[in-house]
Amino acid sequence: MSEPTVYPEDLPDYATVVRAREAGGPEVFEVADVTAPEPGPGQLLVRTASAGVNFIETYQRSGVYPVEYPFTPGAEGAGEILAAGEDVETFHIGQRVTTCEAATGTYASHFLVDAEKAVAVPDEISDEQAAALPLQGITAHYLISSTYRVSPGETVLTHAGAGGVGQILTQLLKARGARVITTTSTPEKAKIAEDAGADHVIPYEDFPAKVRQITNSEGVSAVYDGVGKDTFEGSLESLAVRGVLVLFGGASGQVPPYDLQDLNRRGGLYVTRPAIHWYLQNAEERTWRYTELFHHLSEGTLSLSIGETYPLAEAGQAHEDLESRRTTGKLLLKP
Ligand SMILES: NC(=O)c1ccc[n+]([C@@H]2O[C@H](COP(=O)([O-])OP(=O)(O)OC[C@H]3O[C@@H](n4cnc5c(N)ncnc54)[C@H](OP(=O)(O)O)[C@@H]3O)[C@@H](O)[C@H]2O)c1
Repeated sequence: MSEPTVYPEDLPDYATVVRAREAGGPEVFEVADVTAPEPGPGQLLVRTASAGVNFIETYQRSGVYPVEYPFTPGAEGAGEILAAGEDVETFHIGQRVTTCEAATGTYASHFLVDAEKAVAVPDEISDEQAAALPLQGITAHYLISSTYRVSPGETVLTHAGAGGVGQILTQLLKARGARVITTTSTPEKAKIAEDAGADHVIPYEDFPAKVRQITNSEGVSAVYDGVGKDTFEGSLESLAVRGVLVLFGGASGQVPPYDLQDLNRRGGLYVTRPAIHWYLQNAEERTWRYTELFHHLSEGTLSLSIGETYPLAEAGQAHEDLESRRTTGKLLLKP
């Protein structure tokens, strides 16, 4: 497809988008019809089948991460290619693709994505799975394969084991042969974390002491912490000498400035603050991560749990549910 194969008259006239009018709570969302985006060179126009809801969009909506308003959130979505710009050679119209790196917000009926950041969806994978996989799946993959590479037999701690990233992390860690300790806030969530394969599910109260008990006082070699403010201190306390704290999010709030000398006092620890963008740096990295995730799905070592699906108009409700800890697994929006 080196020339545009669908011409402007074939494109939809308008797209329905969710947008935040200004920084604030979930009530700042409104639904609007806007002129449909047209793919530029190297871009695909995708009709959204399902879009993923992720924690980062709550930070963008609320103003914790700076964005320009009105703002249509969403980097993750799956659907069918309606049109392609010039110089797109790797895809065809009608093909199903997924991405977690969309060029325009995926909380919408249509979105644009650079072809190099889109991935063809294998036939056996549904639109819902295709939308649910990329952001949380790639995150879990890079955390345990690249940020801190976990070896078989190692014991690690991951927080929020019933959450979207948490359930995938646990399954990938188990597939690697690691022993998983995870935290959850309710017995119902504990059951979900256990079903995902966690070896030890513990409440947040006194979790560093429980981790020491489970590890014969040694502590764990790595903690994967997406909860942030409320768990940071305890995560450091749970680490073995020279252990690694991978702080990958702040569901409870961002961690305040921190005295690096403390890492020395606690045993020569490491702290890193990764984000998905730094682990999808080129086509090779993208292909490696997606291929391994699709393989896990097809061999059954990974299954995706869709917690709830909302219509676009209820994006605010999805955010409210996510922020108030009511959800488990993945949240999707369906136009
Ligand atoms: N750095 C990256 O590349 C990257 C990529 C994707 C996601 N993330 C981060 O990973 C984390 C998890 O994302 P997710 O989409 O999978 O969400 P999620 O885990 O499904 O939801 C967040 C969970 O965090 C736990 N939590 C603990 N304290 C909380 C609080 N005060 N308020 C709200 N939740 C709290 C809750 O589980 P319990 O009730 O069991 O505690 C809640 O369900 C987020 O921090 C997100 O920003 C980072």
